[in-house]
Amino acid sequence: MDVERTFLAIKPDGVQRGLVGEILARFERKGFKLVALKQLIPSKELAEQHYGVHKERPFFEGLVHFITSGPVVAMVWEGEGVIASARKIIGSTKPLEADPGTIRGDLAINIGRNVIHGSDGPETAAFEIGLWFSSSELIDWRPSDYAWRVE
Ligand code: RTP
Ligand code: MG
Repeated sequence: MDVERTFLAIKPDGVQRGLVGEILARFERKGFKLVALKQLIPSKELAEQHYGVHKERPFFEGLVHFITSGPVVAMVWEGEGVIASARKIIGSTKPLEADPGTIRGDLAINIGRNVIHGSDGPETAAFEIGLWFSSSELIDWRPSDYAWRVE
């Protein structure tokens, strides 16, 4: 399995509800490597580009309004199979259908307030990382327990 990078973002509801630490811990404990992390209030342009695939959908305007309504914690995580694994850790889009043990299954009820975003594939991940971060914000580093992780 390839070492990949994925883009994750704790949405304004997750930040407002004080879930940042709880969410970061799940990816940290799993063993993925944090490559970039920042808090920002996304501009309308950034939100519209990020969710551009949904621009014809009826929920698009509300989604952009919500995502720009307050701080978002944007992150890049790295590891083998991290793109699909993060989607599993996050759970189904509809929180009431998300399995217990997943972030949405444990922490959310409403599809419009589902706490976290995760890239849905390699192309999306590359696009979203480039959209939200400059290359100087992506930190290359080797965890001190690296040898234990790759055995
Ligand atoms: P995300 O992109 O935020 O990680 O979520 P996702 O892949 O699980 O779901 P996606 O289909 O990409 O939808 C993006 C976000 O739009 C909101 N949504 N609302 N009201 C609705 O029917 C509806 N459908 C989607 C959700 O907040 C979803 O996460
Ligand atoms: Mg999506």
